[in-house]
Amino acid sequence: MAKLWAGRFGNDTSVLLDEFNASLPFDKNLWEEDIQGSCEHAKMLYSIGLLEIQELDSILKGLAEIREEIEHNKFLFNIKDEDIHMAIESALSQKIGNAGKRLHTARSRNDQVALDFKLYCRKHNIALQSLLSELIATLLHIAKEHTHTLMPGMTHLQHAQPISFGYHLVAWCVALKRDIERLQASYHRSNDCPLGSAALAGTPYGNERENLAKSLGFTHASLNAMDSVSQRDFALDILYDIAMVMLHISRIAEELIMWSSYEFGFVSFSDGFSTGSSIMPQKKNPDVAELLRGKSGRAYGNLMALLTTMKALPLAYNKDMQEDKEGVFDSIQTAYISLKILTQSLKELQINKENMLKMCQKGHLVATDLADFLVQECNIPFRQAHHITGICVRYAETQSKDLSKINPNDLELILQQEIIKLKQDSTQEQSIRLDNLTGENLTQVLDLENSMQKRNSLGGCASAEVKRQIHVLEQWLHKIS
Ligand code: ARG
Repeated sequence: MAKLWAGRFGNDTSVLLDEFNASLPFDKNLWEEDIQGSCEHAKMLYSIGLLEIQELDSILKGLAEIREEIEHNKFLFNIKDEDIHMAIESALSQKIGNAGKRLHTARSRNDQVALDFKLYCRKHNIALQSLLSELIATLLHIAKEHTHTLMPGMTHLQHAQPISFGYHLVAWCVALKRDIERLQASYHRSNDCPLGSAALAGTPYGNERENLAKSLGFTHASLNAMDSVSQRDFALDILYDIAMVMLHISRIAEELIMWSSYEFGFVSFSDGFSTGSSIMPQKKNPDVAELLRGKSGRAYGNLMALLTTMKALPLAYNKDMQEDKEGVFDSIQTAYISLKILTQSLKELQINKENMLKMCQKGHLVATDLADFLVQECNIPFRQAHHITGICVRYAETQSKDLSKINPNDLELILQQEIIKLKQDSTQEQSIRLDNLTGENLTQVLDLENSMQKRNSLGGCASAEVKRQIHVLEQWLHKIS
């Protein structure tokens, strides 16, 4: 079978070259976009007088038949056709004869591939946004039920301050919201249509490009033909957007893995989303979450690969750019399956409030509250309040107790002693007050629930504030859906 570009060649290409050069085995993924682009291109050719109406009709009819055949797996892909663009064009010519041979007027495969791939990225950009929205909605649903569920908030993976489980989930949601906004920005940036750029320099046919762009869902035609066929920024954008999604999924997965261990026991995965061991009969492993964590690697790899491929290419099109597709297909597939499985496994996740509460009784979570109390009620400068609280923590350690479990009256005595020492060295002793330093007040200070509820600053973990944050996110989801 002769190649569409065989005219200037005396002999057939080598079989090795055919295999090496072809992108058809993977770019057949672009068939739908290729047909869509060709239909609109043909209509444009008719509108500027380059096709007769009968020719346009038979092109559209032929392309519709090809669509049917591909949809029903009846289309014969032949690697000799090299890529999806030539596979469809030669099938069309075989079907309809001469009219098919006019379709490639005023375009090149360079603008054709730029168009197809851009349309593909845009289609999946939108689909990824809706999968992310579903994940956020699922998390918010769980978060709503847990705005009072105490759990230890951590820094350095060490107990820090009491928060709620709902608050932690909202933190995840905000990161995922940024992922959607990043995709929206990429979509917006890819609003210019490359079709009509031809090989690199435009055409002598007076292509009508603005309406064509709109008919393909873009807002406008691209400004410069040379840039249009040379750039793959839109592909890099979606690769980066997905790398960020996978980074967030990986961090979420890591926490779920930790939380489902015996050591934490905060959550457990349903049987449907857990796996066993081939040797240890008792095991229930979080393989799903581990795979989610692991898959970030390939998403970063795909981004790095295309950045590297594009790095030093001279303008305009170079065949190196054919390497742009497989990584994007892989990242999109990876993000799809990861988002779907994460959402579903969260829907079935069991949450163990008791273990979360138990964990709050370790690690002196209320220490900052005690320091804040000394500042707010005794007017002690924060740095000194920090030091005095540290002494109380040391005392609790010697008693092998959590600070929250120390008898408030004992604590009152220690604090009094320390504050008196402070008054003796301090130049501002006049302003330090002791009247509110009572066992009763300290009981409040040491209470975990109080500690969480007091942090009601904007963005804080108090239940009412978390409910407000959930509301903001729900409103936003509603607006974008
Ligand atoms: N299969 C090619 C690709 O994916 C299409 C563009 C080919 N253009 C060319 N001038 N060789 O990049």
